[in-house]
Amino acid sequence: MARINNPRGGVLSPPLFAVFCSGFGSNLQAIIGAVRRKKMRAVLALVVSDRADAFALVRARRAGIAILVVDPADFSDRSGYEKYLVRQLRARKITHVVLAGFMRILSPYFVRCYRQRIVNIHPSLLPAFPGKDGIAAALAHGVKVSGVTVHVVDQRVDHGPIIAQQAIDVRPEDTRDSLAQRIHRVEYRIYPRVLSAWFENKVVIEGRKVRIDDGNTGSKD
Ligand code: GRF
Repeated sequence: MARINNPRGGVLSPPLFAVFCSGFGSNLQAIIGAVRRKKMRAVLALVVSDRADAFALVRARRAGIAILVVDPADFSDRSGYEKYLVRQLRARKITHVVLAGFMRILSPYFVRCYRQRIVNIHPSLLPAFPGKDGIAAALAHGVKVSGVTVHVVDQRVDHGPIIAQQAIDVRPEDTRDSLAQRIHRVEYRIYPRVLSAWFENKVVIEGRKVRIDDGNTGSKD
């Protein structure tokens, strides 16, 4: 396994992270690319999905990344499902969890197990338009500016401390598809950058306020 030079002497193992996806996995693809180009000092050790038919799994297989499909329908309740997930992650020594289009809400139990070690990307400027389809909701509301948010996951949906945001102008002629395309392009840049800082412990969380030590993220388009 790759090692990181420790300024205090010796070597540190890089973080091992899992990406959770339910669908297309284009953010996963951007993360895979960044790991390949050595933009992140971390090992993408596992892709987790709640759906066996997620295209994200095809991407993971192509990249030679281990896959874990855990279907909640195979468990009698959410607690059993999440306890199993946590056991699987711990058995693989996963230290960080990256949500990228994972369509399930993680319970307080899971969030406690990986406290401040779970991040999510959301396609709106939170706290505006949380929930399932932030892009459509923003468009339907008639906002002139929307964007992308990367945040730490806490016990409430799309609520945790905000690490980075980028604004995107909404054009009068925008459809959900055209706005989604511009949002995704921003996501593919911002998420790997934030993750890279996070894995290097440059993301400092103080209550709701988050500081990134290298100051390279969250700029306006
Ligand atoms: C992204 O827009 C992300 O912001 C949201 O879900 C979508 C996932 O897309 N949480 P993909 O599966 O990465 O293509």
